[in-house]
Amino acid sequence: MTHHSLLRQITDYANRANPYPLYKELHNTPVLHEEDGGPYLVSSYWDILSLLHDPRISSDAANLAAAGADEMGGVAETGLPPSFIRQDPPEHDRLRRIANRPFGPPHSPRKIDSMRGELAGIVSGLIDGFGQARQIDVVDQFAYPFPVTVICRLLGVPREDEPRFHTWVEPIVAGLDPDTGKDDAERRRGAQEARMQLGMYLAQLVEQRSKEPTGDMLSELVTSHGPDGPMTTMEVLSTAVLLLIAGHETTVNLITNGMLTLLRHPEYLERLRNDPGLVVGIVEELLRYEPPVQLVPQRTCIADIEVRGTTIPKGSKIWLVLAAGNRDPERFTDPDRFDPDRKDIQHLGFGSGIHSCFGAPLARLEAQIALSELARRLDNPRLVKDPPPYRQNAVLRGPRHLLVDFDALR
Ligand code: HEM
Repeated sequence: MTHHSLLRQITDYANRANPYPLYKELHNTPVLHEEDGGPYLVSSYWDILSLLHDPRISSDAANLAAAGADEMGGVAETGLPPSFIRQDPPEHDRLRRIANRPFGPPHSPRKIDSMRGELAGIVSGLIDGFGQARQIDVVDQFAYPFPVTVICRLLGVPREDEPRFHTWVEPIVAGLDPDTGKDDAERRRGAQEARMQLGMYLAQLVEQRSKEPTGDMLSELVTSHGPDGPMTTMEVLSTAVLLLIAGHETTVNLITNGMLTLLRHPEYLERLRNDPGLVVGIVEELLRYEPPVQLVPQRTCIADIEVRGTTIPKGSKIWLVLAAGNRDPERFTDPDRFDPDRKDIQHLGFGSGIHSCFGAPLARLEAQIALSELARRLDNPRLVKDPPPYRQNAVLRGPRHLLVDFDALR
């Protein structure tokens, strides 16, 4: 019998539709190290949580490069410095604070909530656009265009440029897929090249806004002069690249995973239709049960760290498998059950600690509006194919298409 390591099975596309049995196996070895020079996989909820808060775990792209994973964020090769998701304090904190100013505490939740009407309008427009069709692709016709439109408006990137920037986003996202041993160097080169192109495209917009600010986030980033001082132009560009990509490549999966899960549990679809308030619990449970970011692979230990009796040596790469932590039986009762009525639902879907998701309030609101409106307006929706075809990516995981039949549009 040929034996494939769990690591290889997790990255193997053949297991993309249902990686959860593999995560269950991971729980047998809470710290798994299968290959010399390979990553240490951590899968228990409490270990992941504490490591996300541990300053001995670095997100710095330079440390990861030193650990042997030639990171796509490397300055020399892209000409763009790594964004703050690939930096440690104090730089991380300074850049994140500046990026947060437009939302800025104490206004943050209110600013996002004030977008509710605008988001609902975009969603209605997309659903009306289904027209007379009785079959849709939830991904291409809804779950992708919606967050793209939102992040474009927020940043001030022209929506009609999507076909252009999409050709750069795709290789960048492919570069986020953890090393699988094949075509890695080529994939990273493609990602670096695309990141530079996207940065150059955004540079034109940033240049305009620096002369004529228009109140969008690009304007705010380029004119910011708070207590943390201004961002350099390069910092503005790498932050804009991060926000543009993080702003839609994850939310598309939350909405699609959400619709798929609801179609597999039609009793909740029915309940949601009659009680839109239920959507809050549904979205939180989705972030636990089918998290769009399955694992955080870009971390390095900068000291020896002992986890459950295993010493992870300084310089090692470490993967925090959020999706496994979310189904840890030591943490959640009946973890493989989709149960939006759970009272205790502190999932790891948005990470935790200093790098915890910057866009979580927006992502939550987008998914809530998207799913409650689909539930309300599609009459008798049915899955055409289960499981649907998945995107390649093991980190940002979700269906590539989701065909749904329905009887009428309400
Ligand atoms: C970070 C998930 C949507 C912006 C993260 C992290 C996770 C995550 C797990 C932590 C990464 C790490 O620890 O290295 C998600 C999910 C989303 C979502 C599941 C949608 C369902 C968004 C949106 C935006 C955004 C809409 C922007 C508007 C960011 C940024 C970071 C981040 C900037 C880096 C934060 C830092 O390093 O301090 N996200 N995200 N995300 N997310 Fe999200």
